[in-house]
Amino acid sequence: VTRHPITPAERLLTAIEAKRAGRSLIPEVISSIIHDYTAGRIPDYQMAAWLMAVTCQGMDMAETLALTRSYVDSGDRIDLSSVRRTVVDKHSTGGVGDKVTLFVAPVVASLGVGVLKMTGRGLGYAGGTLDKLESIPGLRMDLSEQEMLAVLEKTGMVITGQTARLVPADAATYALRDVTGTVTSAPLIAASIMSKKIAAATSGAVLDVKFGSGGLVDTYEAAEHLATIMVELGAACDLPCVAVLSDVHQPLGRAIGNALEVREALEALRGVEVPGFSELARLLAGLMLRLADPGLDERTANERVRAAVADGSALAVFQAWVAAQGGDPRCAEEPDSLPRAPYREVVTAPTSGWVHAVDARQLGRLSVRLGAGRLAHAAPIDHAVGLIVRCRIADQVHTGEPIAEIHMRDGDRAGAQDAVRAAFDIRPQRLDPLPSVHRVIGM
Ligand code: URA
Repeated sequence: VTRHPITPAERLLTAIEAKRAGRSLIPEVISSIIHDYTAGRIPDYQMAAWLMAVTCQGMDMAETLALTRSYVDSGDRIDLSSVRRTVVDKHSTGGVGDKVTLFVAPVVASLGVGVLKMTGRGLGYAGGTLDKLESIPGLRMDLSEQEMLAVLEKTGMVITGQTARLVPADAATYALRDVTGTVTSAPLIAASIMSKKIAAATSGAVLDVKFGSGGLVDTYEAAEHLATIMVELGAACDLPCVAVLSDVHQPLGRAIGNALEVREALEALRGVEVPGFSELARLLAGLMLRLADPGLDERTANERVRAAVADGSALAVFQAWVAAQGGDPRCAEEPDSLPRAPYREVVTAPTSGWVHAVDARQLGRLSVRLGAGRLAHAAPIDHAVGLIVRCRIADQVHTGEPIAEIHMRDGDRAGAQDAVRAAFDIRPQRLDPLPSVHRVIGM
């Protein structure tokens, strides 16, 4: 009897049943699933069932590594051999108000270490660096690999959208995960992020793994688990990584929304201390320097970071980089050249006391509703709108004092005021500030 050769669909069905029953899959099976799916030989419904089985049953380290390698092999790797500097990368799992890349990239580049950062659009309530940067008039975020290398060579840094040939299997799988409730699985997140870091082929990456209502995962334990897997994947694929576990129960810094965040990052680059932002941003920049030069101690790295801000060299790199990518470098000196919303509403404290919560997720959602993010795939966004949050957890406030500003185009001003107030929990008891960084893994 001649047996028909096993088809991709039959092979995947066996894998779905095995994973559903909690068994581990061998690397060859995982790589054929990813290969077949990327080649269009597996229907979305079957892939979705497999992703759900993985989300429910998990993956061990060998499976996660096989998935990561299969993702990487689905596309090209960036060839950095022509770049004369050591180049490092940085990634954040995303958080409301996270504009750290805009600060760390020019700081690190001004200190002689190259920064290559491919970045994405906003997802859900967390904004994306690509959307934020597009508020700079003219700035191109769609560089080819050749243009990317040229900007990196010229200015020491490059931030651009992901090229189409980089990990296409992740792009396809992510879109499916987004609509099938399978985004939050730790091995799927780790493989998705790390495959892109590995394919970017830098000398190392600093990972900012955030937990809290404004981030991808809610708890410290989940963030620690995710960070540990990512650092291990990096080690197994010759990409040294350091992970920082940071808190995003409240927004990062004060600004939420695209141009507002660019302005705030520029303030920090000009030496203004931004509560809830500057300290974390300096720590991440210092870790990037130390990844590039393992002999560098923590104190010296931190001193260099502060000096690059104080003497204006980081801001100068930012300007040169904006110009190299076709943007208007005036934004660095005249922040008012960035888009501005026509209305500004001040929200005041309804009562006196201490701030116990500033719910980052609620504020992120409100910012999306104001127009700063998307409610539908590929919808246009409004770069001018968003929020400025004037206080942080543990601050004391008095009735009638400003606690936030809403930057809006039009619409229901009273409704927006109520939504902002609902994100604040003000109580009579004093409390201690939250630490912003809880642990560094891998250094
Ligand atoms: N960011 C990614 O790139 N992938 C994920 O799975 C989650 C966040």
